[in-house]
Amino acid sequence: KQALNIVKLKKMKAEGVPLSMLTAYDYPSAALAEEAGVDVILVGDSLGNVVLGYNSTLPVTIDDMVYHTRSVARGAEHTFIVADMPFMTYHGSIDVTLGHVRRLIQEGHAHAVKMEGGLEICPAVSAIVSAGVPVLGHIGLTPQSVNTIGGYRVQGKDPEDAVRLMREAKALEQAGAFGIVLELVTEEVAEAISRELSIPTIGIGAGRYCDGQVLVFHDILKYTSSYREKRFVKTYADVGGVIKDAIGQYVQDVKQRAFPEERHVFGADEEVLHTLYGA
Ligand code: KIV
Ligand code: NA
Repeated sequence: KQALNIVKLKKMKAEGVPLSMLTAYDYPSAALAEEAGVDVILVGDSLGNVVLGYNSTLPVTIDDMVYHTRSVARGAEHTFIVADMPFMTYHGSIDVTLGHVRRLIQEGHAHAVKMEGGLEICPAVSAIVSAGVPVLGHIGLTPQSVNTIGGYRVQGKDPEDAVRLMREAKALEQAGAFGIVLELVTEEVAEAISRELSIPTIGIGAGRYCDGQVLVFHDILKYTSSYREKRFVKTYADVGGVIKDAIGQYVQDVKQRAFPEERHVFGADEEVLHTLYGA
């Protein structure tokens, strides 16, 4: 199977073929996503929340992203992989920004990077695209700016907000982004942006009319110890419950000496007994 590329992604939009994106953070999650037919894997900085146990994405470092992207790339060699640029790694000089991009591509083996923000990041987007690296934009609720946004709330509810989002989306397309993630955006605004742009929009909590959808691996699988319902997520399995039950059975088996059984053990030759215990 041949990996997708940004030319094919834009063609999918033109042909009205929906694009499926899912996050992954390590070798097994990436391999399973690829085998299940995901179009694009996102190594999201949601890594911080769902894998590293932080309560926001702010503590995630470029080293964290490189390390996890590399393991995802080993698991999904035939899938287009986008890696998130973490907090504050693309707001300084272009040289420093390009250094971080280089690491995600060269050491992490990502095909593209994703960056949160609007007009203020457009110069960086242009520079990265000029360097030959595809960029996925990300507007709406941008978790790296949670402290200036004032919480995780839906964007595009009033006219000014709608106009701002549309302006940001157009600017990112102009700057050379190959697509834009719309996070927690009202369905009407996401639909208007999707119609206006020729590059695909990929929604998360952004309604039915985006060109693609993205969700977090651990969310669709309830792969966590305490899953909190989110309105925009559809859950397809209770992996957390399956894991907890299985581990509980293992612990019980060990306590009751029900494991290991004879079929799990290795026997030695009879003369070993003599050596150990004498004649
Ligand atoms: O980090 C992430 O998982 C993301 C998606 C929610 C788009 O940025
Ligand atoms: Na992210």
